[in-house]
Amino acid sequence: MLPRYDGTQSYEWNYTHAPAPLGVDVPPLAGQYEFLGRPVGSPLGVAAGPLLNGAWLLYYAGLGFDVLTYKTVRTRARDCYPLPNVLPVAVEQVSGSEPHVPRASAMNGTWAVSFGMPSMPPEVWKADVRQTRELLAKDKLLSVSVVATEQPGWTITELADDYALAARWAVESGADCVEANFSCPNVCSSDGQLYQHPGDAARCAEAIRAAIGDVPLIIKVGHQVDEAAALAMIDALAPSCTALSMTNSVALPVADENGELLFGGQRRGICGRGIREASIAQTALMHELIRRRGYKLRLIGVGGAFDATDVRRYLAAGAEAVHLATAVMIEPDVAIGIRRAWSNA
Ligand SMILES: Cc1cc2nc3c(=O)[nH]c(=O)nc-3n(C[C@H](O)[C@H](O)[C@H](O)COP(=O)(O)O)c2cc1C
Repeated sequence: MLPRYDGTQSYEWNYTHAPAPLGVDVPPLAGQYEFLGRPVGSPLGVAAGPLLNGAWLLYYAGLGFDVLTYKTVRTRARDCYPLPNVLPVAVEQVSGSEPHVPRASAMNGTWAVSFGMPSMPPEVWKADVRQTRELLAKDKLLSVSVVATEQPGWTITELADDYALAARWAVESGADCVEANFSCPNVCSSDGQLYQHPGDAARCAEAIRAAIGDVPLIIKVGHQVDEAAALAMIDALAPSCTALSMTNSVALPVADENGELLFGGQRRGICGRGIREASIAQTALMHELIRRRGYKLRLIGVGGAFDATDVRRYLAAGAEAVHLATAVMIEPDVAIGIRRAWSNA
C-alpha cells in the first residue's frame, strides 16, 4: 500500500518528504481527451493542494494523472497556518447552509482544510517549476496555481497587478497553463472571496490575461448556488479566461463534540466526499448558464471525486476534466483504480 497522508506532519515537513517516483504500470484510458485545447491521455488531474513542489508533482504524474496542478504560489513567501491543517468532519453531503459541521474522530472522506495558502519565496518556486517542466513527460500538462497577496491599503489595481505578476512568473518558469485562485475560504482578505465580486474579479482576470498572452487561464471559484450571482460571475470572467474550476470547497465553521466552534469560529474549506453533490450540481448549473450565453468557457470539475462513477458524473454535468485533491492524499493510486474501473465498465 502507498503511504497515505495522515495530516500529522507540518507543511514544511511534507515539502521535503515527497516519495520517490514509483514507475508503476498505468492502464491507458479508452477515448480521446483534451485539456484546454491540448490532447491529454485522460480527463484526470490533481487539483491545487497536494502537489507542494516538483517532487510531489512527479510522484503523482507517475500514478496516472495527466494534468498536475502545482500548489498555489505567491509573489512573496507566506507561512502555513499551524496544525491541524486538516481536520476530519462527520457529514454526508453539505449544502453550504449548515450553521457548522461537527469534527470527526477519524477520516471518512471529508475534512476541513486550513493551510492559508503558504508559499515558498518566488525564487524557490520559479526554479522548481522550471525544473519540473523539464522533468515532466511532454504529454502531461503542468498547471501552476497562483494567488495575490493583499497588503494593507491596497486597491483592486494593486491586487490585480500582484495576480498578474505571479501568473507571468509562472508562465516564464514553464507553466503550460495558469490557475488563478479567486476563492480561498480560509483567508479573510479580498482574494479569498474574489469570485463573489464580479467587477473586481473581472479586473484581476483581465490583468492576468494581459500578463500571460494566450496561455490558457483557469479561474478557480468557490461555492455558488445563486443563479443570478453565478451568471454575473460568468459574464465577468468569460472575456478573459479559458476555463472555470469548481468547487474550491464549501466554506463552513467546524465545531467540536460540545458544539464549541474551532478555528476561532472562522469558516474552513470543507473538502472531499461530502462536497461531491454540491460541486456536481454547481458544474451542471454553470454549464447550462455558459451554454445559454454562448460562451466558449470550459469547466473543470473539482470536489469529492473518488471513483470512475464520480468522474463520469462530472463529465456528464459538462466538465471537460476532473481534478482530485482529497482522494489522492488518502488513496494515492486512485487514478489507477479509476482507469481500471473505466476500462471494465
Ligand atoms: C490539503 C489541501 C490543500 C489545498 N490547497 C489548495 C491551494 O493551495 N489552492 C487551491 O486553489 N485549492 C486548494 N485546495 C482545494 C482543492 O484544490 C480542491 O478544490 C478541494 O479540495 C476540493 O476537491 P476534493 O474534494 O477532491 O478535495 C486544497 C485542498 C486540500 C485537501
